[in-house]
Amino acid sequence: MPDLEECSGVRYLRETTYTRETIKEIQRPAIAQVETFKEYPDAKKIKLPTNWSLDEARITPLVQKRRSLRKYEPEDVTFDELAFMLWASQGITAKSGDYSFRATPSGGALYPIETYLSANRVEGLAPGLYHFDPRNFCLEQLRDKDCGKEVAACCLDQTFMGNAAVGFLWSAVIRRCMSKYGNRGMRYIFLDAGHICQNLLVAAEATGNGGCPVAAFYDDELNALIDLDASEETTIYAAAVGKRKSAKQCSL
Ligand SMILES: Cc1cc2nc3c(=O)[nH]c(=O)nc-3n(C[C@H](O)[C@H](O)[C@H](O)COP(=O)(O)O)c2cc1C
Repeated sequence: MPDLEECSGVRYLRETTYTRETIKEIQRPAIAQVETFKEYPDAKKIKLPTNWSLDEARITPLVQKRRSLRKYEPEDVTFDELAFMLWASQGITAKSGDYSFRATPSGGALYPIETYLSANRVEGLAPGLYHFDPRNFCLEQLRDKDCGKEVAACCLDQTFMGNAAVGFLWSAVIRRCMSKYGNRGMRYIFLDAGHICQNLLVAAEATGNGGCPVAAFYDDELNALIDLDASEETTIYAAAVGKRKSAKQCSL
């Protein structure tokens, strides 16, 4: 059985890495564009209702209003709000035998994604770098110094990442998934991260915050900042979160 570095899943990950040196020279294959929407013009069309009054429609405003937010109010995110966002994105919500199921689905219930936080403005939490431990529902402090600016620099200098109240940084423990699923496991890792981020964004909306997913970053720099052994665990996704303008001020 080939070990990680020889697997096509990991080769793909390495080949699509951004570094400051290579980003300008990356040769993107010349793939022609296609339309954003697909239609079957000859198919019978059945209109869907939009005035549903189901109980489930309570999430409608959260889904409707979610927009990637890159400008944040100066207020802190509260510690309760942060805890809720962590719970909604990666919290343990059920137990069965050896399994601890989480708020978001995971291929094979393997949960390959780890959550790190760059806390900049969280009420009652010292600025710094943290790791989220879902089993004990606690934060582990890795650095006690604000690292928002460094995180923003790692994210292709996208300043909003440093202006956010908190930056979520998600890494994948590659082996956790690929030891079971081989190369196909790489797909599951990306899918898991998508689920996690989406729940975070909805939870952010529910608490008067907003967020923006970020996948443009220098992999090696972000890994170094978190002190990850990139041969085993590498950053794959991130999100900035901060206070949004109150509903009254909001143009929506
Ligand atoms: C995989 C992924 C990566 C993204 N990376 C970035 C990013 O690095 N910087 C950024 O400003 N927005 C990023 N976005 C946000 C998109 O630009 C945004 O979702 C899109 O424009 C649609 O807008 P909406 O989220 O407001 O609906 C990313 C979104 C996704 C799903």
